[in-house]
Amino acid sequence: MVGARRGNTGRMQALQFTSYGGPEVLRRADAPDPHAGAGQVRIAVRAASVNPVDWKLLSGAMSGGQPLTGTGYLGYDAAGVVDEVGPEVGDVSVGDDVFGRGQNTHAEYAVLDSWARKPPSVDWAVAAAAGVAGETAERALRLLGVQAGDTVFIDGGAGGVGAVAVQMALARGARVVASASEANQDYLREIGAIPVRYGEGVADRVRAAAGAQVDAVFDVAGKTPIEQLTSLVAKPSRVLAIANFAAVQAGARVTAGGEDSRPMEALAEVTELLAQNKLVIKVQTFRFDRAAEAYRISQDGHVRGKLVLVP
Ligand SMILES: NC(=O)c1ccc[n+]([C@@H]2O[C@H](COP(=O)([O-])OP(=O)(O)OC[C@H]3O[C@@H](n4cnc5c(N)ncnc54)[C@H](OP(=O)(O)O)[C@@H]3O)[C@@H](O)[C@H]2O)c1
Repeated sequence: MVGARRGNTGRMQALQFTSYGGPEVLRRADAPDPHAGAGQVRIAVRAASVNPVDWKLLSGAMSGGQPLTGTGYLGYDAAGVVDEVGPEVGDVSVGDDVFGRGQNTHAEYAVLDSWARKPPSVDWAVAAAAGVAGETAERALRLLGVQAGDTVFIDGGAGGVGAVAVQMALARGARVVASASEANQDYLREIGAIPVRYGEGVADRVRAAAGAQVDAVFDVAGKTPIEQLTSLVAKPSRVLAIANFAAVQAGARVTAGGEDSRPMEALAEVTELLAQNKLVIKVQTFRFDRAAEAYRISQDGHVRGKLVLVP
């Protein structure tokens, strides 16, 4: 089922690159329209977020040393209006406002594999910011079995994934201690966490702030030596890492998505929290032609909330 769209030229504008490099190799240029396959929808993108994986891919760090063949596209989440519904999709129609996860979302049109309806009260940019971060936070808290009454430490609580995880854990009734730089201590307090500074001595500061046994640790940033994090909990498997995959050698758990993911359920939970104002995501927006600036900020590693691109 294909909905009405501007022109029907079969072409759109997308961010793209033809060689690996820094944000300076990104171009906004003409690209073929994508189409929704089975179990997918295509959206006219209103906003798409920048995730660290975008600049990691752009740099070639994830290519296994292979040169780029063809054109590269980026972006793993977006919000927009459904304009094409693939086979085996029954829950949304052309014209519905949705957000979710997909590929090549830094474009005027993008295909989503998982989605939820955007609550009318939520901005496009905020909804776009909630895709990857929301799914990752839900996955991490589920794998850690976080429940009401638990005390959780979230290492890297002010960024995309961390800020959602803080608020999702609070909504589940947990107490949350979270780390950030000095500049983001107030922000952590604002979203309901007990803030601590990261860096040397962080484990002692967490113990002092928690004043009780830490039940689970979500290592978001992957920068703290893993032994410091495992020292906080009853057994190493109570630490889950998403960026430090070597953490597994110390008995911590790691997750990269895949079979651990339940994206539709995760996005449904995120929608509820957004609609109830229990999840607030701070966003900084950039037009596509200023995307390189957003990529540079992401690469610097000190994002507060999320960086979002607007076509
Ligand atoms: N495995 C997966 O499925 C998965 C999914 C999503 C993301 N990730 C990865 O998870 C990581 C975080 O993603 P994100 O989207 O949350 O990134 P982000 O939005 O860029 O946030 C990064 C945060 O890390 C904090 N940070 C910087 N240095 C730190 C340190 N030494 N100790 C603790 N925190 C520190 C920063 O806090 P300040 O600003 O206060 O410095 C910043 O808020 C990335 O490496 C990303 O690729 C993995």
